[in-house]
Amino acid sequence: MAFLILFQALLILSLAASTLSTRPYKNGLTPYFYDYVCPQALPAIKRIVEGAVQQEQRMGASMLRLHFHDCFVNGCDGSILLDSTATIESEKFAAPNNNSARGFEVIDQIKAEVDRVCGRPVVSCADILAVAARDSVVALGGPSWKVRLGRRDSTTASRTMANNDIPAPNMDLPALINNFKRQGLKVKDLVALSGAHTIGFAQCFTFRNRTFNDSNINQAFAKNLRSYCPRTGSDSNLASLDPTPARFDTLYYNNLLTQKGLLHSDQALSTGESALELVKSYSHNYEAFWKDFAKSMVRMGNIKPLTGNQGQIRSNCRRVD
Ligand code: HEM
Ligand SMILES: *[C@@H]1O[C@H](CO)[C@@H](O)[C@H](O)[C@H]1NC(C)=O
Ligand SMILES: *[C@@H]1O[C@H](CO)[C@@H](O)[C@H](O)[C@H]1NC(C)=O
Ligand SMILES: *[C@@H]1O[C@H](CO)[C@@H](O)[C@H](O)[C@H]1NC(C)=O
Repeated sequence: MAFLILFQALLILSLAASTLSTRPYKNGLTPYFYDYVCPQALPAIKRIVEGAVQQEQRMGASMLRLHFHDCFVNGCDGSILLDSTATIESEKFAAPNNNSARGFEVIDQIKAEVDRVCGRPVVSCADILAVAARDSVVALGGPSWKVRLGRRDSTTASRTMANNDIPAPNMDLPALINNFKRQGLKVKDLVALSGAHTIGFAQCFTFRNRTFNDSNINQAFAKNLRSYCPRTGSDSNLASLDPTPARFDTLYYNNLLTQKGLLHSDQALSTGESALELVKSYSHNYEAFWKDFAKSMVRMGNIKPLTGNQGQIRSNCRRVD
């Protein structure tokens, strides 16, 4: 009898140890979260993302950015999607998002379709953002990864935190490293995730300073940018973040090596030894970039999720239920 109890104790201990040592899914998130609850959910998201990207390629970039701006503000909890009310100061009007974050209508469309195919609201808006980001990257020719799921939606938003925690384009490398560090992310995550700027566009007001004031900028590149982003006015004129804004390729990193990064914060990645080493490696090795990008997207998606009975599953991503 004593032997049997000892044996059982050992079995439990070894099971516990193996769970700990492999730590399969951090924070309670798992790629299989909806497999039984609603297996139609992920295919529905993919369908709508593909349609939206087909209609406008930039939408893929915009949806990827939404997930980033959600995760960096008190975790990936769908807070960026909430509209203003008497008690909610929408993050949509925070400086990094105002007149800049886009794609909210596509997220609404996904939510309506997912709730329809599932028969009830079981998929969180925070998970929709994470899956739509992955499907967007895939739609533009980038890597795929298993998105961990089971996030729940916040009942609050914070414009102040959005202003403080989303990195700004005038930051230098130490500020960027510190900003990512506060989210538990490392230099490698910073360099790999900045590769998201291989797709999409930026408005004149975000890169004007660089074209007039930075010394680490290719002169012909700067001159060309200044021709449609002058000292004053034209604030919302667009420039692509790399030469192929609808292809998830390595040109973003190649451009950094020739001082053709669009944002001051992009070019900053070439100003420190360990970041520059990664830039060089990603510039000629798309497999390394893809692998690290996918890994870092999972790490970013793990930031402070609400799980279990925390938060809620919204039935409309713009409103608390
Ligand atoms: C490292 C610090 C970062 C800074 C300072 C930064 C800043 C910016 C700025 C200023 C824009 C242009 C916005 C506009 O003009 O409206 C932009 C666009 C974009 N950002 Fe970042 N970003 C950073 C990191 C990231 C990360 C980590 C991701 C995703 C993983 C990301 C994804 C994007 C995408 C896809 C766009 C294009 C969006 C579109 O065309 O709609 N960025 N970013
Ligand atoms: C957001 O942008 C609009 C339009 O440019 C502007 O009127 C408004 O003041 C901005 N909101 C905040 C909170 O800065
Ligand atoms: C541009 O530079 C000015 C002066 O250094 C600074 O106050 C401002 O924040 C910068 N703007 C951007 C968008 O980088
Ligand atoms: C360039 O930097 C100077 C100060 O060094 C600043 O006064 C000026 O506003 C900057 N130019 C732009 C376009 O922001």
